[in-house]
Amino acid sequence: MPYVFVLFLAPVRAQTTKRINIIPQPSMVTEKPGEFMLTADTRIISDPMFAEIAELFSSQTFIKQGSSKEKDQPHQIRFNRVGINIIPDSAGYRLLITPKRISIFARTRIGALYAMQSLLQVQLSQPKRSAIPCGEVNDHPRFGYRGAMIDVSRHFFSASYIKRFIDLMALYKLNTFHWHLVDGPGWRLEIKKYPELTSKGAWRTHKIWKEWWGTERQYSTEDDPNAYGGYYTQQEAIEIVDYAQKRGITIIPEIEMPGHSNEVLSVFPNLTCTGKPYRSGELCLGNDSTFTFLENVLTEVLAIFPSKYIHIGGDEADQKAWKQCTKCQKRIKDEHLKNESELQSYGVRRMEKFLTNHKRKLLGWDEILEGGLAPDATVMSWRGEQGGITAAQMGHYVVMTPGSHCYFDYYQADPATQPRAIGGYLTLEKVYSYEPVPAVLNPSQAKYILGAQANIWTEYIGTPEYLEYMTFPRLLAMSEVTWSAKKDRNFDDFKHRLQAHYLIMKRLNVNYFRPSYHLDAETKLDIKNRNAVLHFRSEQINPPIFYTLDGQEPSANSLKYKDSLAVNSSAKVTAVIIENGQLKDKPVQIDIDFHQALGKKVIYNLPHSKSYPAQKETSLVNGLRGSLTYGDGQWQGFDTNDMDVTIDLERSIPLTSISTSFMQQVGPGVFMPDFVEVSLSDNGIDFHKVETIKNIIPATEKALTIKELLNSSYKCNFWVKQ
Ligand code: ACM
Repeated sequence: MPYVFVLFLAPVRAQTTKRINIIPQPSMVTEKPGEFMLTADTRIISDPMFAEIAELFSSQTFIKQGSSKEKDQPHQIRFNRVGINIIPDSAGYRLLITPKRISIFARTRIGALYAMQSLLQVQLSQPKRSAIPCGEVNDHPRFGYRGAMIDVSRHFFSASYIKRFIDLMALYKLNTFHWHLVDGPGWRLEIKKYPELTSKGAWRTHKIWKEWWGTERQYSTEDDPNAYGGYYTQQEAIEIVDYAQKRGITIIPEIEMPGHSNEVLSVFPNLTCTGKPYRSGELCLGNDSTFTFLENVLTEVLAIFPSKYIHIGGDEADQKAWKQCTKCQKRIKDEHLKNESELQSYGVRRMEKFLTNHKRKLLGWDEILEGGLAPDATVMSWRGEQGGITAAQMGHYVVMTPGSHCYFDYYQADPATQPRAIGGYLTLEKVYSYEPVPAVLNPSQAKYILGAQANIWTEYIGTPEYLEYMTFPRLLAMSEVTWSAKKDRNFDDFKHRLQAHYLIMKRLNVNYFRPSYHLDAETKLDIKNRNAVLHFRSEQINPPIFYTLDGQEPSANSLKYKDSLAVNSSAKVTAVIIENGQLKDKPVQIDIDFHQALGKKVIYNLPHSKSYPAQKETSLVNGLRGSLTYGDGQWQGFDTNDMDVTIDLERSIPLTSISTSFMQQVGPGVFMPDFVEVSLSDNGIDFHKVETIKNIIPATEKALTIKELLNSSYKCNFWVKQ
């Protein structure tokens, strides 16, 4: 999979000394001179409609509440109820901070809540928390769905931790918590009708998911002192729902079906196709008992969770067991279904009918599109954006959560420097760059995009500390993606505001990922004029960067980078951040290669992968190389076909070497080729093979590996066939 590099230039802004730094970026912020000083006399005074929010603010800031009789008292923070003419958006607000008074204007409870969170951020981010800078904020959200999901099955997180997470979501105006409550590694919600689900199905033999997954995946019991697991009682779940609702957050429970159900089948083997547990993770869809079970479970779930949406999973069901099951095959025949995909769709439709009868709506992962989408289903697009695009074009609502931008179990920095994660590579900037409305949708289709969501799968996330490390500050980027208008989003500005939020997160003891010293380079190559311009980027603000042009490791005596770097001949640009004499991260090397194939025509004898087209036919010849992530739009993928390309050099020219790079990242299924064969031709018809290079990276190598496989010397002319 050869690749190249993305060009994305954002204006570099001067470091600001702004005092009001809100995330997500509001629609309008104006700073004004002066401060509102919090004193022992300051009182919160509220319209009765916002009493609960005033109370929440008071409990978090220890500022006392006053009565409206104290109208004239000098230091007041006032929650005012206003009409639609003042605040048109139902979730909008205005916050006005003057030396004498802080005024919140809202027409709904939710608007007042968001104003309160903005004020809380301003206060918490001041070096001295008693001095609140003056200014004005006018604000409303872009999307109605601003979500985060935690998988509590692969590792369990306590009810009290879930509340803390909800507090953090609320501070950043996220409004939907998707609770992935059940999955093969453990059932996590008390169901009174089926106590075995939590007395047995919530407990497994190994604490570490990876160890459990690598064995027979056995379950245990609550009274086994060696068992790992846990679950939420219904009372706890009800309290969490209420806690979240008070903070403007809807909880959508996910009851996964028909795949990922090993824990259910371990307890109820009669719901498997074979009648035996541990053979597959799929519920038998030919068996009516499966539907009785699911409806009984959902009946209790609906009583706990008042959300409009109920998530039924639907992802990654293996159809093998259904193919061999007489009951499933009978169902296919009786219902005139074409195949097992339609059987799954039948199951989803049946659940949708149940939910509709109970005045709820079905939400499912994008596999629910296969075999026909249930009539009123909403799709959560995770395998890229295509599922979401298809659903929106069909007039179905969509939540966007593509792995490329929304999976917080991916590495957020060079995997070599990070604790074990599932794979992938998703930097803060990449999350920030996400645009939830795909460009291919027209305005009437775009209306079906409800918003976006960050997913925190917990295969490798076993503790709250690590969960926060993987989540923050990327969740702040997601909050801005889903709240702020596209025109108001600017990564450099976000990065500056983020400095204030690092202070907030420290004050709230959030174990956030400290900004990386890794350097990324944006390279703009002007092939015609043989000129390359590099911009280095990092998560640091204006770090001291040193570089060389010959591949040597730079020192503090090397050339110092300013705003950009222009190169007009081939070079191995090598750069580092050196701060106070300390090398901060591994050097990065960017090969600027003015090679003979630049800008030449590439013929794909077999097509590349549809999902990973990179820059299509220019990928191999635009002189740029890919980054640490295969999803950067520069790595080209080959899935069903071999890679077979011809580069047309147009005329006979001497070649001294040929090279291209390949990536291996086993987790998400990216592998080296077995071998690379090079053939040359002087007429474009007759090719002669000059070399075969065997791959030496074993498929068992799990670490991210990027290798230049070709690096041979030739004294020859003409065409090159790779
Ligand atoms: C998923 O990540 N399997 C929805």
